[in-house]
Formats: sequence, structure tokens, C-alpha cells
Amino acid sequence: MAGATASGEQGWSSRTAFILAAVGAAVGLGNIWRFPTLAGENGGGAFVLVYIAFVVLLGLPLVLSEILLGRTGGSDAIGSMRNVAEQSGRSKRWGALGALQITAGFLILSFYSVVAGWVINYVFISGGDFFGALFAGDPFSVAFNGETQDQITGRMGDLFADPMRLIILHVLFMAATVGIVASGVHDGIEKAAKWLMPAFFVLLIIITIYGAFTGNFAEAVAFMFTPDFSKITPIVLNEALGQALFSLSLAAGGLLTYGAYVSKDVNLAPTAGLIALADTSVAILAGLMIFPIVFAVGLDPAGGPALIFQTLPVAFNVMPGGALVGMVFFILIFFAALTSSISLLEGPTAWTMDRFGWGRKKAALIVGMVAWLIGVACALGYNMWSDVRLLGFWNIFAETDILDTLDGFTGKIMLPLGALFVAIFVGWRADANVVKAQSGLSGGMFILWRFLVAWAAPVAVSLVLIFGLLPGLLGE
Ligand code: PFF
Repeated sequence: MAGATASGEQGWSSRTAFILAAVGAAVGLGNIWRFPTLAGENGGGAFVLVYIAFVVLLGLPLVLSEILLGRTGGSDAIGSMRNVAEQSGRSKRWGALGALQITAGFLILSFYSVVAGWVINYVFISGGDFFGALFAGDPFSVAFNGETQDQITGRMGDLFADPMRLIILHVLFMAATVGIVASGVHDGIEKAAKWLMPAFFVLLIIITIYGAFTGNFAEAVAFMFTPDFSKITPIVLNEALGQALFSLSLAAGGLLTYGAYVSKDVNLAPTAGLIALADTSVAILAGLMIFPIVFAVGLDPAGGPALIFQTLPVAFNVMPGGALVGMVFFILIFFAALTSSISLLEGPTAWTMDRFGWGRKKAALIVGMVAWLIGVACALGYNMWSDVRLLGFWNIFAETDILDTLDGFTGKIMLPLGALFVAIFVGWRADANVVKAQSGLSGGMFILWRFLVAWAAPVAVSLVLIFGLLPGLLGE
């Protein structure tokens, strides 16, 4: 059967279903929370430029490589790597690359769900404001009416200081993720993507238009597209690479696993192009949605991880219809986060199903519970365990709490390493004929792709890893 895996999984019902699910996996907190945060902190234009260069030159070729490996291997991430290696006459130890990826995805899931919990918190707060105002006969009221700026930003601190609340929100989000993955590729993942992604796009466009009309669009465009090259340091390169990989769902088992459910008649190259294009457009649009609002109220774009949770609510407090827009904004992020977290859970779930012969429901539940437990540690890292520094010996992690350490370790180290080995495998170790036939590319395009995967990606990723990480490790 086309697109069926070892565990007997049925596969996507159509190419469109796969594209929606893969775009759903790609578009998430990475686009709306992480990208604007990093762009804001790293000087805007320069970061955006480097990011786009990484997406086009490395990200896109690797998206094609990973889907191709998944489809050729036809199993979970580890099984697929072993299968393709075997077919190419290479050691089955390449399965370790699948293991590295699944581990990265699993760790990302654990903190991703905590951040998504914050999003749910703000859906509740802004929803309460909106419905309160609606019943009072003023649906176009601002959010947090009557609160001072300090009170509004203080809400994030209140949330962080309350472990119980953080944990309950984290339970809600993880339960939704487990519920969808437990329902299967067809009835769970595919259905969720089919409803949530179109809804997401409509909301995104509405708020971007709102921001363009009521915010300071010109300043946002200047901020995002005027590069200041002096801002490009090895650390910025490392951040941008990590973000490109994170945003495209590369090296975290998601694409390898989803690839196995793609039927043989789908032409992979244009499909990969579409996924990368959609993901990058949403990141740019998210910037164009958020920064005009930030600048309109004279706030700092370098607000850090609190950008969308503290800075934006302050803006919603003074903008027309802020309560309604705020609620819609957080619902939009919630949808995006959910279609991504299901892909993060699917990787390790598919593997446990194949490895231990468990049913889908049991596998999803157990994997989700373990990831949830690690997430609890992240949540406690904001209050009871705020002094814990998991990798405190390493300069770049000396100041980071548990969640940021997991985020940084996966994004800056595990994803680049995973991408490096995917590039080496597809570029040098896999059977060239199989790779060529599966890619759907021919002539110059095939040569270009092959060059980017075999040469550009390994060299660039290695350089970024060496110059981005070593100085910190050596204490310089
Ligand atoms: N791409 C997702 C985002 O940008 O939020 C995060 C993610 C999903 C990373 C799935 C990795 C993955 F396998």
C-alpha cells in the first residue's frame, strides 16, 4: 500500500492532506513566538536576511532530503534510516540519526507544550475581557481595560510565579496533542490540520491587515528589511540556523515520520518547496503582524520571549478593538502550536509503536506523559527551581532557566547536528540512483540540490557550530 509503514499506518489520503499536515507542523510557535523574538533581539533586518538565506540554501534542500528519506524508508524515523542505509549498502547504525532526531523532537515537545500553555492562558484572559465587554454592550473595547502598563506586563510574572497554573495549562495542551495523535494519521492528524490550518491563515491575514491599518507599518518594514551587517556575529548565525531548522521542523523526526506516510506518486520536490515557502511567508507575515503594533505604541522590539505575552498585550490595551483582536491573536497561535505539537509527538509515538508493538493510543499516551513530566520541570524552572542551571558550566547556558536551556540545547546543538548528518547521508552515503529517482529532480536542478546538500549544508552547518559554540564552551 502506498505510504504504509511498518506499523501498518495507512498514510495520507491525498497530497493536499500531506501538505496541510506538513505546513501545520512547520508553522507554529517557531514562526509567531520564536522568529519575531529572535529578529527583535538580533537587530531585525540582518537576522531576517541570514534566516532567509539559510532557509533557501539549506532548509529547503534538507526538507526535500528528509521527506525523501522517510518515504524511501517507509517506517518510523529510526527504522526509515536503517532501511535506507541498508538499501544503499551502508551500516544500519545510521538508525542512530533517527534516534537523535526523535530525541530532539521529544525534548522540544516537552517545553513546547509549556509555552503553548501560556498561549492558552492568554486566550482565557483576552477571551474574558472580550466577552465581558461584549455583555456590557461594548464589543470593541480595548483589552485589560483600566489596567496600567505595569499591571498588564505583571500578568506574565503572576503566571510564572504560579506552578499549579502553569502545570494545568501544560496538561490541557498536552492532552489535546495526545488526543489527536491517538486518533491516528487519518482521523486525527489529517483532520486537525484540515480544519486548523485554513482557520489559522484567515486569522493571520485579518490581524496583519488590522496591524497595517492601525499600527506603524512603515517602521516595522524598515526594521525587518533594513539589514545592519555589523549585527551579524557567529552567535547570530547560530541562532538563525537553529531557527531555520526549528521552523521547518527539520532534524526533529517530524518530517522523516510524516514522509513515510506519503504515497509514491507524489512529486516531492515541488511539495518541499511549497512547505518551505508557506513556512517562511508565515514567519515574515508574523513579523509584519506583530512589529507594527509594537512600534505603534512605542514599545521595544527586543522584548525577548515575553514579546508576544507582555509587549503585545500592552498594545492591545490601547488599540481599537484590542480585546477582540487579542483573543483572536492568541487563538491563532494556539491553532498553529497544536498542528506542530502533533508532529512532534508523532515521531516518538510511531517509533514506540514499531519498537514495542504497542497500539497507537497507548504509545501516544505514554510518550505524551513522559514529555509532559519533563515539561513540568520547565514550568518549575520559573518558580521553585528558578536557580537550576542544567548546563551552567557552558557560557551560553550560564544564565538560562530550564526551559531556555532545553530550547537552546535542541535548537543550537541537536538540530544543527541532525541536519549535518542528514546532509552527509543524503549527499554522500545514500544510493545516488535511489535518491535521484525519489527526489523527482532532473538535470541542473538535481545537480544544484545535490551540491547544496553534499557541500553547502555540511560546510555551513559545521562552521556555524564551530564558531557559534566553541568560544562559549572554551569560556572566551
Ligand atoms: N516547526 C515548529 C514551529 O516552528 O513551531 C516546531 C517543530 C515542529 C519543530 C515539529 C520540529 C518538529 F519536528
